[in-house]
Amino acid sequence: MLYFIEMTITVHGEDEMKALGKRIGSQLKAGDCIELVGDVGAGKTTFTKGIAVGMGISETVQSPTFTINRTYEGSAGLRLSHYDFYRLSDPGIMADELAESIDDKETVIIIEWGEVVASIVPKDHLRIEIASPSEESRILTLVPSGERSQALAGGVA
Ligand SMILES: Nc1ncnc2c1ncn2[C@@H]1O[C@H](COP(=O)(O)OP(=O)(O)O)[C@@H](O)[C@H]1O
Ligand SMILES: [Mg+2]
Repeated sequence: MLYFIEMTITVHGEDEMKALGKRIGSQLKAGDCIELVGDVGAGKTTFTKGIAVGMGISETVQSPTFTINRTYEGSAGLRLSHYDFYRLSDPGIMADELAESIDDKETVIIIEWGEVVASIVPKDHLRIEIASPSEESRILTLVPSGERSQALAGGVA
């Protein structure tokens, strides 16, 4: 397949955002990678909180800013590794850590502000762009780059 189909979803409010994240989270498997793109306050971390719930993680996801990475243990041996490279011009050893997470057979990866690690991120990952047309809503554009991310995007529709 050469071309993948983008999808746009309007999401009203934090609860709906978490519900959508949960829906994707329940489909995730080890090796899956989601890149979240959007300004500060777009809702990237809110969405990740929902993903964690969908993965059966009981711990509440907190923004990893300053620590860059937080890892959570989900049900069925699946792990969530959440990265936030905000304002990091050089990822340094965190790039190595990310590469290790990508190779790990039990880990799902979520990345905020991933431009700085673009060369490490798996080619087939689901990019989700979040725009904020108003305070009350967000527009999510799901951009698949391979068969797996296309399947994930399709599972949300
Ligand atoms: N779909 C949505 N519609 C309206 N507000 C939202 C939505 N999703 C998240 N928010 C709100 O946006 C704010 C910022 O969310 P956050 O997840 O911290 O953003 P980011 O991680 O992108 O900086 C929070 O107050 C949250 O309640
Ligand atoms: Mg955030």
